[in-house]
Amino acid sequence: MLRFDLISIFPEYLAPLKLSLLGKAQEKGVISINVHDLRDQTTDAHHSVDDTPYGGGAGMVMSAVVWGDAIDQVSKNSSNVDLVILTPAGKKFDQRMAEQFSKSQQIIFACGRYEGIDARVGKYYRQQKNFRVHEVSIGDYVLGGGEVAAMVIIEATARLIPGVLGNPESLKEESHSLATDSSESLVEYPNYTKPASWRGLDVPEILLSGNHGEIAKWRRAESERRTQELETE
Ligand code: ADE
Repeated sequence: MLRFDLISIFPEYLAPLKLSLLGKAQEKGVISINVHDLRDQTTDAHHSVDDTPYGGGAGMVMSAVVWGDAIDQVSKNSSNVDLVILTPAGKKFDQRMAEQFSKSQQIIFACGRYEGIDARVGKYYRQQKNFRVHEVSIGDYVLGGGEVAAMVIIEATARLIPGVLGNPESLKEESHSLATDSSESLVEYPNYTKPASWRGLDVPEILLSGNHGEIAKWRRAESERRTQELETE
């Protein structure tokens, strides 16, 4: 069972992780999702988690002391941890990374805010033999914090774990999957359902033909066309 732990100063922000597919997967016991309040690790009266940056500059930096205590707490007794530090300066998340993460035992998400987490936190855990550290961005834009990014990664990762999706067949032909040929990543072909005609728009004739060979060929061509279109935008 894959265990996800999230550490944040806004645990309520992560409430949607109880819903829908992820909620059901937790009920089934295929995954577990545990949210931790970073401030539980603070020892001062103000429960402070950040301080001014060495060297000067705008904003605040989150404390290595507090983060280290929180990560130690959540990883005690763990022999194999992937630590994901969310940052716009990280490696870009994609389907490949989701596939890798879906094979993990435990993933701890460090959801930073402000100007990020003291750089020594990543460095320290890289030196620990039971840890693999990943600095990850979900895209080239800046969010208010890592919480939404962590939810994106969990949603993409969890659905690849056997037993999470009702119908695993739906993984086979979807966008970015590498089921057939690992050299290419195509987006999915367009899908249609009843009625066959809607507001003057008809479903492509071929899909009504019952000819599975021709349908497969058409879908493949549509996938290639759409992928090409995105690449030349
Ligand atoms: N924190 C702020 N922006 C982010 C991004 N784009 N990806 C991951 N974490 C972030």
